[in-house]
Amino acid sequence: MDLSDRPRRLRRDGIRGMVSETDVDASDLIAPVFVDATTDVRRPIESMPGHERVPVSEAVARVEEVLETGVEAVMLFGIPESKDERGTRAWADDGVVQEATRRVTAETDAYVITDVCLCEYTDHGHCGVLEDGAESAARLTVRNDETLDLLGKIAVSHAEAGADMVAPSGMMDGMVGAIRESLDAAGFSDVPIMSYAAKYESAFYGPFRDAADGAPAFGDRRHYQMDPANRREAMREVRLDVEQGADVLMVKPALPYLDIVRDIREEFDHPVAAYNVSGEYAMLHAASEKGWLNLEEVALESLVSMKRAGADLILTYFAEDVADQL
Ligand code: PBG
Repeated sequence: MDLSDRPRRLRRDGIRGMVSETDVDASDLIAPVFVDATTDVRRPIESMPGHERVPVSEAVARVEEVLETGVEAVMLFGIPESKDERGTRAWADDGVVQEATRRVTAETDAYVITDVCLCEYTDHGHCGVLEDGAESAARLTVRNDETLDLLGKIAVSHAEAGADMVAPSGMMDGMVGAIRESLDAAGFSDVPIMSYAAKYESAFYGPFRDAADGAPAFGDRRHYQMDPANRREAMREVRLDVEQGADVLMVKPALPYLDIVRDIREEFDHPVAAYNVSGEYAMLHAASEKGWLNLEEVALESLVSMKRAGADLILTYFAEDVADQL
């Protein structure tokens, strides 16, 4: 054969690594950590092998485990001691995330990002204040503008506790602008916002909803999270968040939405984050338990794909395992 171009020449050991286009580094990864005010002991999360809900007293120890692997950032999620209609424990000065943030920032060098949302704090499990009489799915509406005030309060309470960055995930219109304004007014103009700019209404969140006890008690999140069928709409969402002052743009979930990661990477200059969600983690674990996939290999390949698609940061339950492997 007279082939002038033979790509296989560069695939041999020795050169293969040198021509590799994409790297995953521990410093790109963010590890989710669940802090639970309803327990005094660490409790394993069944659908997310290797992950636990830890009490506030164990938050520092848990974050130190993450840091030992080389991962430098954590995302804190809270499970409050009690829930109510408006999710008031979400912005309490002595709330679970606020207490954990105070300890972790005082005692470790971790970069602490906090989840700013109401679904773990409301008794109905929705990401905001419900319309009166919305107890049936048919009439279900989260009141957008009233919810914005609460999101601003949550973000400020996290910043007061020492959070390095806040990450609003509620998909309310105007959410980034409202949080930016509240943070600035409270003197936190240096605290960046990582916006879940394109967050889809995804069935891949299943295990997380067990982990964080945040499943809607009735109805679903279709009237605020995005339709998985939509690509152009993601750009519209991102554009709005950029206009409102988002610092990092997140796409969620990751693997089934790599086209969206790529679109954002091409159109905007902001850092892009991908959230490799609980269902993506659980399915690889389940298949590897059956002996059908090699967990280490598929985990790393997944994260490489996200980087290749254009993600700068990856929020993943595999953070510690992959960092250990690197
Ligand atoms: C909402 C929130 C969710 C996740 C992160 N933040 C759940 C939801 O929107 O229902 C899901 C993350 C995952 O599945 O790993 N605060």
